[in-house]
Amino acid sequence: MRHNVWMLEFGSWNLVFGIWILEFHMKVLLLGSGGREHALAWKISQSPLCEKLFIAPGNGGTSQFGENVNIAVSDMEQLKGFCLQQGIDMVVPGSEEPLVKGIYDFFKTDAALAHIPVMGPSKVGAQLEGSKAFAKQFMLRHNIPTAAYREFSEENFEEGVAYLQQHPLPVVLKADGLAAGKGVVILDSREEAITEFGQMIKAAKFGEASKKVVVEQFLTGIELSVFVITDGHSYQLLPTAKDYKRIGEGDTGLNTGGMGAISPVPFADKAFMQKVEEQIIRPTVVGLAAEQIVYQGFIFFGLINVGGEPYVIEYNCRMGDPETEVVMPRLKNDLLELFRATAAGSLDAQAIQEDRRAAATVMLVSKGYPEDYEKGKAINGIPQQSGSQLVFQAGTRENGGQLLTNGGRVLTITSLADSLQAALAQSKQTAERIQFDGKYYRKDIGFEFV
Ligand code: AMP
Ligand code: GLY
Repeated sequence: MRHNVWMLEFGSWNLVFGIWILEFHMKVLLLGSGGREHALAWKISQSPLCEKLFIAPGNGGTSQFGENVNIAVSDMEQLKGFCLQQGIDMVVPGSEEPLVKGIYDFFKTDAALAHIPVMGPSKVGAQLEGSKAFAKQFMLRHNIPTAAYREFSEENFEEGVAYLQQHPLPVVLKADGLAAGKGVVILDSREEAITEFGQMIKAAKFGEASKKVVVEQFLTGIELSVFVITDGHSYQLLPTAKDYKRIGEGDTGLNTGGMGAISPVPFADKAFMQKVEEQIIRPTVVGLAAEQIVYQGFIFFGLINVGGEPYVIEYNCRMGDPETEVVMPRLKNDLLELFRATAAGSLDAQAIQEDRRAAATVMLVSKGYPEDYEKGKAINGIPQQSGSQLVFQAGTRENGGQLLTNGGRVLTITSLADSLQAALAQSKQTAERIQFDGKYYRKDIGFEFV
């Protein structure tokens, strides 16, 4: 950290008034390589507090806002070496992987790294995302509304089969651990549910992650994503968002990492958000503190609105992707200022300012995604960034000045406008103009609201 101290002199009176202005400049290391990290890099780099931004490993887009570093997000020893060598002042994990693997604890328990804040929960706190059973037990202890459930493993497998035989349909099966977004299966038939249950537990369909399974009541409603940043005591609410996970229009077909998002969520009005804060957010933050679970970072509440009542579908210990690509453009605050307050435990002194405009993002993906797809297609026609349009790259790489596709989700186009309709229209127009072989995108993002 560089502390700049300026002394202003008023010499004509031969008096010296020393005005000391302390300015912190931070070297920040952001971890990840998706559209979310491109949006975070874009936002962090705007902060006057940012001296230098590094992104490990980054992508073709993040290098516009900082220096990409070829280190994997969970390679703790390499990250340590890099932080010490560069004098990094703050680490910002974008995805859950390093958090669930304990990057927070790794830094805090290493004398050479302990002074570097890591924006995220401790390893135990990250279990809110890393273990569905942990999250459900936590919600039960703190009276947080969520679907009814039971957990099963090899030991009580037969009890699980009996439970499924009398469970109302559809029924939700969730692998306890991280399963690359594939561990949740919703089944309409009891036979299929019992077969899937066996595959998860006995055949380790999702490896270690499905040795334990949460069997859950199916909730009917409309989903939304609510984000807070917490310093462990207080929290600040960020703009709400809704993502679109299915590959096909009208929310059909396979689940993806996310095909688009909007912010704000039209039905998340004052009355609904008051319920969310009272019944879900506050009990979560207070519960973490009461259980002495260290948590300084983002909490992502995956919620469902059931007849006006919010329920938790899942917790995540990081921002969403592609929600970040609409949330960050609508957040007017200096993100590093919020991070600094988070690390200092003074978030209560901050106030969130939201852009009044609506934001929409539309993801361009490679043909075949989320199954097999080809890479290395030339991408052309990306427009210049403007105050109302941003292109965030996800699966891209550069080769001799030519941008190429390098993943299933290739890039996402965020537009800001006075109405959601106008923002969506603008993103779709740009989606038409950007070209690569096998381009596909959903034309109906935000369909429920327009
Ligand atoms: P997850 O992988 O935890 O994000 O879950 C994937 C998706 O499954 C969620 O976004 C929901 O659409 C759906 N889902 C999970 N749990 C439930 C539930 N109890 N009732 C209805 N849908 C659910
Ligand atoms: N968009 C959902 C997620 O990031 O998990």
